[in-house]
Amino acid sequence: MSKIKDPSLAPQGQLKIDWARDHMPVLSQIRSRFEKQRPFSGLSIAMCIHLEMKTAVLGQTLQAGGASVSITGSNPLSTQDDVAAALAKSGVMVYAWRGVTPEEHHANVLQVLTHCPHILIDDGAELSVALHTQKKELLPDVIGACEETTTGVHRYRAMEKDGTLRYPVIAVNDAYTKFLFDSQHGTGQSAFEGVMRATNMLIAGKTVVVGGYGWVGRGIARRAKGLGANVVVTEVDPIRALEAAMEGYRVMPMADAAKIGDIFITATGCKDIITAQHLTEMKDGAILANAGHFDVEIDVKALRENAISTRTARQSVEEFKMRNGKRLYLLAEGRLVNLAAADGHPAEVMDMSFANQALAAEHLVRNKGKLQPKVYGMPLEMDKEIARLWLESHSIRIDELTQGQVEYLGSWQ
Ligand SMILES: NC(=O)c1ccc[n+]([C@@H]2O[C@H](COP(=O)([O-])OP(=O)(O)OC[C@H]3O[C@@H](n4cnc5c(N)ncnc54)[C@H](O)[C@@H]3O)[C@@H](O)[C@H]2O)c1
Repeated sequence: MSKIKDPSLAPQGQLKIDWARDHMPVLSQIRSRFEKQRPFSGLSIAMCIHLEMKTAVLGQTLQAGGASVSITGSNPLSTQDDVAAALAKSGVMVYAWRGVTPEEHHANVLQVLTHCPHILIDDGAELSVALHTQKKELLPDVIGACEETTTGVHRYRAMEKDGTLRYPVIAVNDAYTKFLFDSQHGTGQSAFEGVMRATNMLIAGKTVVVGGYGWVGRGIARRAKGLGANVVVTEVDPIRALEAAMEGYRVMPMADAAKIGDIFITATGCKDIITAQHLTEMKDGAILANAGHFDVEIDVKALRENAISTRTARQSVEEFKMRNGKRLYLLAEGRLVNLAAADGHPAEVMDMSFANQALAAEHLVRNKGKLQPKVYGMPLEMDKEIARLWLESHSIRIDELTQGQVEYLGSWQ
């Protein structure tokens, strides 16, 4: 039995899923093939990933391929209860609702694992960490895992490095058709959608501070610039700092940026980006948001400890009146702002990310027993195939190398 907030929300959730599916042509093509070939027949697939409409399309695609699918969300605020209801109605086992406590979330992760999964679709490595620590008896049946995000890939690499990892993992995050589009264009757009929905504030003319200039950070910086903001970037990597500087952004340490920013968006995957010290330096009215995977980038504890009062200013906006008299506004509790205060990435980019997930899961099944317990990249030919299908389904054509060009590029004389 699924555990969801309200089954009567299913019709509303189904409308959202239909909308997403109509904008995910690549996944639709994969689904048609899966329906015929049934690559997951008899297999159990467990998912721990932001539970919203595009994820539902992925779950149903795997189901169409013959899998029995169970799912929980990967963040307390990213689950959409209507989508969860519709997914449960379509036969997926769902254990998720918006606003789970950390204890309920962990119980849901363990509940998903009671379905004895063969394949894991992870977003932050949570299923695998639970399997390797609390459910070791299930490890021998696992064929492999597919990981959606940078933070999860880091955790899997750490597991591989210390010899803990017991099955192969495909770093879906590292596919070109994932990070170049989902992380940049998807998070870039949806992070601002979250900030704007939550605050209804003008971005033009504001100073937007972006913590981290990785794939996500550069997407956010570019959207901020496009909306008319003055963009400041903070970094620890000199090459990425250089890239940001050459793109025309101001680059400085957070200690300096804290004093001038109007809107802060962290996207580093690291902890303690905005600390208690930075909070005391900020301007009255500064807005704080995070787009990195875990809620560790902004020191929310320090914010609470140094506030004399707090209140909900708007949905997804908490106001903190600080001891120094200034007011700071935290969006979505410091959790992924694009998923907690908006609908996450547009369907067109998730089409590619989830096409990677579907093909990676199939790849693991087809290569069962042949792969080592380590982290693999997405095979390049699959990555290119997804790009080809996406272009084709959007009526975009490209040139092909002639035989003479192939020979020219392959010669050294
Ligand atoms: N919100 C979303 O929907 C979404 C989507 C994709 C990825 N993510 C998450 O966003 C985070 C970033 O992902 P990415 O793919 O851009 O990673 P990345 O590794 O490409 O970039 C992170 C950048 O942050 C910098 N950095 C690290 N520590 C820092 C510090 N202390 N101060 C300043 N800069 C620092 C790094 O040098 C790097 O350039 C990860 O947690 C990832 O899981 C979120």
